[in-house]
Amino acid sequence: MDATYNLNGGFKPTMKRSADLDGPDFYPTPRWATYALIESERFKGEIWEPACGDGSMSEVLAETGSKIASSDLYDRGYGETGHDYLTTRRRAQNIITNPPYNSAEGFVATGLRAAHGKFALLLRLAFLEGANRANTIFHRAPPSRVWVFSERITFYPKGAVVAGSGTTAYAWFVWDKAHTGPTELALLKPGFKARYSKANGLI
Ligand SMILES: C[S@@+](CC[C@H](N)C(=O)[O-])C[C@H]1O[C@@H](n2cnc3c(N)ncnc32)[C@H](O)[C@@H]1O
Repeated sequence: MDATYNLNGGFKPTMKRSADLDGPDFYPTPRWATYALIESERFKGEIWEPACGDGSMSEVLAETGSKIASSDLYDRGYGETGHDYLTTRRRAQNIITNPPYNSAEGFVATGLRAAHGKFALLLRLAFLEGANRANTIFHRAPPSRVWVFSERITFYPKGAVVAGSGTTAYAWFVWDKAHTGPTELALLKPGFKARYSKANGLI
Protein backbone atom coordinates (compact mmCIF):
# COMPACT_ATOMS: atom_id res chain seq x y z
CA MET A 1 0.00 0.00 0.00
CA ASP A 2 1.20 3.49 -0.79
CA ALA A 3 1.87 5.12 2.56
CA THR A 4 1.36 8.59 1.16
CA TYR A 5 -2.36 8.03 0.70
CA ASN A 6 -5.24 7.87 3.14
CA LEU A 7 -7.93 5.33 2.41
CA ASN A 8 -10.48 8.01 1.61
CA GLY A 9 -8.30 9.31 -1.20
CA GLY A 10 -6.97 12.28 0.74
CA PHE A 11 -3.33 13.07 0.25
CA LYS A 12 -0.75 12.57 2.97
CA PRO A 13 2.56 14.18 1.95
CA THR A 14 5.85 12.36 2.16
CA MET A 15 8.67 13.71 4.32
CA LYS A 16 10.21 15.49 1.34
CA ARG A 17 7.33 17.89 1.02
CA SER A 18 6.21 17.88 4.64
CA ALA A 19 5.66 21.64 4.36
CA ASP A 20 2.55 20.69 2.40
CA LEU A 21 0.88 19.87 5.69
CA ASP A 22 0.76 23.27 7.24
CA GLY A 23 3.17 25.64 5.49
CA PRO A 24 2.75 27.66 2.34
CA ASP A 25 4.67 24.98 0.44
CA PHE A 26 7.41 26.80 -1.46
CA TYR A 27 9.40 24.54 -3.76
CA PRO A 28 10.83 26.15 -6.91
CA THR A 29 10.36 24.07 -10.04
CA PRO A 30 13.58 22.95 -11.76
CA ARG A 31 13.85 24.78 -15.10
CA TRP A 32 13.89 21.64 -17.19
CA ALA A 33 10.44 20.59 -15.98
CA THR A 34 8.92 23.82 -17.31
CA TYR A 35 10.77 23.47 -20.62
CA ALA A 36 9.17 20.04 -20.95
CA LEU A 37 5.76 21.72 -20.96
CA ILE A 38 6.46 24.63 -23.30
CA GLU A 39 8.15 22.37 -25.83
CA SER A 40 5.18 20.00 -25.81
CA GLU A 41 2.11 22.18 -25.48
CA ARG A 42 1.37 25.39 -27.41
CA PHE A 43 0.02 28.41 -25.52
CA LYS A 44 -1.44 31.28 -27.54
CA GLY A 45 -1.62 34.64 -25.81
CA GLU A 46 -0.78 35.83 -22.31
CA ILE A 47 0.15 33.45 -19.52
CA TRP A 48 -0.49 33.96 -15.81
CA GLU A 49 1.68 32.18 -13.22
CA PRO A 50 -0.51 32.65 -10.11
CA ALA A 51 1.71 30.94 -7.50
CA CYS A 52 5.01 32.18 -8.88
CA GLY A 53 7.28 31.81 -5.84
CA ASP A 54 10.70 33.22 -6.80
CA GLY A 55 9.85 33.22 -10.50
CA SER A 56 11.60 29.96 -11.39
CA MET A 57 8.73 28.94 -13.64
CA SER A 58 7.81 32.43 -14.89
CA GLU A 59 11.32 32.99 -16.22
CA VAL A 60 11.19 29.88 -18.36
CA LEU A 61 7.64 30.68 -19.49
CA ALA A 62 8.89 34.05 -20.75
CA GLU A 63 10.90 32.16 -23.33
CA THR A 64 7.65 31.37 -25.15
CA GLY A 65 7.61 35.06 -26.14
CA SER A 66 4.19 35.48 -24.53
CA LYS A 67 3.41 38.20 -22.01
CA ILE A 68 3.76 36.70 -18.50
CA ALA A 69 1.91 37.89 -15.39
CA SER A 70 3.24 36.58 -12.06
CA SER A 71 1.67 36.66 -8.60
CA ASP A 72 1.83 34.79 -5.31
CA LEU A 73 0.00 34.86 -2.01
CA TYR A 74 3.32 35.28 -0.20
CA ASP A 75 6.23 37.64 -0.77
CA ARG A 76 9.05 35.65 -2.34
CA GLY A 77 10.72 38.62 -3.99
CA TYR A 78 9.08 38.16 -7.38
CA GLY A 79 5.91 39.33 -9.12
CA GLU A 80 2.83 40.71 -7.38
CA THR A 81 2.39 39.56 -3.80
CA GLY A 82 -0.66 39.12 -1.58
CA HIS A 83 -2.88 37.74 -4.34
CA ASP A 84 -4.83 34.63 -3.30
CA TYR A 85 -5.45 32.55 -6.39
CA LEU A 86 -8.09 30.44 -4.69
CA THR A 87 -10.42 33.42 -4.32
CA THR A 88 -9.35 35.37 -7.39
CA ARG A 89 -11.77 37.14 -9.71
CA ARG A 90 -9.12 37.63 -12.37
CA ARG A 91 -9.22 35.91 -15.74
CA ALA A 92 -6.41 35.03 -18.15
CA GLN A 93 -6.03 33.37 -21.51
CA ASN A 94 -3.61 30.77 -20.10
CA ILE A 95 -2.64 29.81 -16.56
CA ILE A 96 0.40 27.71 -15.69
CA THR A 97 1.81 26.84 -12.28
CA ASN A 98 3.13 24.31 -9.83
CA PRO A 99 0.55 24.69 -7.06
CA PRO A 100 0.91 23.94 -3.36
CA TYR A 101 -0.08 20.28 -3.28
CA ASN A 102 -2.49 20.65 -0.41
CA SER A 103 -4.51 23.11 -2.51
CA ALA A 104 -4.26 21.31 -5.83
CA GLU A 105 -8.00 20.64 -6.06
CA GLY A 106 -8.72 24.31 -5.41
CA PHE A 107 -6.24 25.29 -8.11
CA VAL A 108 -8.09 23.03 -10.57
CA ALA A 109 -11.46 24.56 -9.63
CA THR A 110 -10.09 28.08 -9.98
CA GLY A 111 -8.43 27.28 -13.31
CA LEU A 112 -11.74 26.03 -14.69
CA ARG A 113 -13.34 29.43 -14.13
CA ALA A 114 -10.31 31.71 -14.56
CA ALA A 115 -8.70 30.42 -17.78
CA HIS A 116 -10.25 31.34 -21.13
CA GLY A 117 -7.93 29.01 -23.05
CA LYS A 118 -5.70 26.51 -21.31
CA PHE A 119 -4.46 25.91 -17.81
CA ALA A 120 -1.66 23.57 -16.86
CA LEU A 121 -0.69 22.30 -13.42
CA LEU A 122 2.44 20.38 -12.49
CA LEU A 123 1.22 17.66 -10.14
CA ARG A 124 2.18 14.25 -8.89
CA LEU A 125 1.03 11.60 -11.32
CA ALA A 126 -0.81 10.03 -8.38
CA PHE A 127 -3.17 13.03 -8.47
CA LEU A 128 -5.12 10.84 -10.93
CA GLU A 129 -6.00 8.45 -8.11
CA GLY A 130 -8.49 8.74 -5.30
CA ALA A 131 -12.24 8.43 -4.96
CA ASN A 132 -12.69 12.04 -3.83
CA ARG A 133 -10.99 13.47 -6.88
CA ALA A 134 -12.78 11.02 -9.15
CA ASN A 135 -16.08 12.48 -8.00
CA THR A 136 -15.08 16.12 -7.64
CA ILE A 137 -12.76 16.61 -10.62
CA PHE A 138 -12.24 13.80 -13.06
CA HIS A 139 -15.84 12.86 -13.78
CA ARG A 140 -16.95 16.48 -14.09
CA ALA A 141 -13.99 18.20 -15.71
CA PRO A 142 -11.29 15.75 -16.74
CA PRO A 143 -8.00 17.16 -18.01
CA SER A 144 -7.56 17.33 -21.78
CA ARG A 145 -4.05 15.96 -21.70
CA VAL A 146 -1.72 14.45 -19.13
CA TRP A 147 1.99 14.69 -20.02
CA VAL A 148 3.80 12.11 -17.93
CA PHE A 149 7.46 12.66 -17.10
CA SER A 150 9.79 9.76 -17.74
CA GLU A 151 12.45 11.58 -15.71
CA ARG A 152 11.93 12.13 -12.00
CA ILE A 153 11.69 15.67 -10.63
CA THR A 154 13.20 16.41 -7.25
CA PHE A 155 12.17 19.62 -5.54
CA TYR A 156 14.88 21.31 -3.52
CA PRO A 157 15.02 24.55 -1.60
CA LYS A 158 16.37 27.43 -3.69
CA GLY A 159 20.09 27.20 -4.44
CA ALA A 160 20.49 23.62 -3.25
CA VAL A 161 22.94 21.38 -5.05
CA VAL A 162 21.18 18.53 -6.82
CA ALA A 163 22.11 15.10 -5.49
CA GLY A 164 20.54 11.97 -6.93
CA SER A 165 17.12 11.63 -8.46
CA GLY A 166 13.62 11.78 -7.02
CA THR A 167 11.32 8.87 -6.39
CA THR A 168 8.00 10.52 -7.20
CA ALA A 169 6.42 10.52 -10.65
CA TYR A 170 5.08 13.86 -11.88
CA ALA A 171 3.00 14.98 -14.84
CA TRP A 172 1.74 18.15 -16.46
CA PHE A 173 -2.06 18.14 -16.32
CA VAL A 174 -3.54 20.37 -19.04
CA TRP A 175 -7.14 21.57 -19.28
CA ASP A 176 -7.86 23.02 -22.72
CA LYS A 177 -11.25 24.72 -23.24
CA ALA A 178 -11.02 23.90 -26.97
CA HIS A 179 -10.55 20.18 -26.39
CA THR A 180 -13.31 17.65 -26.91
CA GLY A 181 -13.20 13.92 -26.28
CA PRO A 182 -11.49 11.83 -23.65
CA THR A 183 -8.30 12.66 -21.80
CA GLU A 184 -5.19 12.15 -23.92
CA LEU A 185 -2.19 10.50 -22.32
CA ALA A 186 1.22 11.59 -23.61
CA LEU A 187 4.71 10.66 -22.55
CA LEU A 188 7.57 13.13 -22.20
CA LYS A 189 10.76 11.67 -23.61
CA PRO A 190 13.87 11.67 -21.44
CA GLY A 191 16.46 14.37 -22.09
CA PHE A 192 14.95 17.57 -20.69
CA LYS A 193 16.90 17.26 -17.47
CA ALA A 194 20.26 17.01 -19.23
CA ARG A 195 19.42 19.74 -21.74
CA TYR A 196 18.14 22.37 -19.35
CA SER A 197 19.76 21.81 -15.96
CA LYS A 198 22.49 24.31 -15.20
CA ALA A 199 25.99 22.98 -15.72
CA ASN A 200 27.07 23.65 -12.13
CA GLY A 201 24.51 21.25 -10.72
CA LEU A 202 22.26 23.97 -9.32
CA ILE A 203 18.58 23.78 -10.21
C1 LIG B 1 5.36 24.56 -4.85
S1 LIG B 1 5.60 26.33 -4.85
C2 LIG B 1 5.84 26.64 -6.58
C3 LIG B 1 6.41 27.98 -6.93
C4 LIG B 1 6.48 28.27 -8.44
N1 LIG B 1 5.16 28.09 -9.05
C5 LIG B 1 7.47 27.35 -9.13
O1 LIG B 1 6.99 26.44 -9.80
O2 LIG B 1 8.68 27.53 -9.00
C6 LIG B 1 3.91 26.87 -4.52
C7 LIG B 1 3.72 28.38 -4.39
O3 LIG B 1 2.33 28.61 -4.14
C8 LIG B 1 2.21 29.76 -3.32
N2 LIG B 1 0.84 29.75 -2.77
C9 LIG B 1 0.36 28.99 -1.76
N3 LIG B 1 -0.97 29.20 -1.62
C10 LIG B 1 -1.33 30.12 -2.56
C11 LIG B 1 -2.55 30.75 -2.92
N4 LIG B 1 -3.70 30.47 -2.28
N5 LIG B 1 -2.55 31.67 -3.93
C12 LIG B 1 -1.41 31.97 -4.60
N6 LIG B 1 -0.21 31.40 -4.30
C13 LIG B 1 -0.18 30.49 -3.29
C14 LIG B 1 3.34 29.58 -2.33
O4 LIG B 1 3.69 30.81 -1.73
C15 LIG B 1 4.47 29.03 -3.23
O5 LIG B 1 5.28 30.07 -3.71
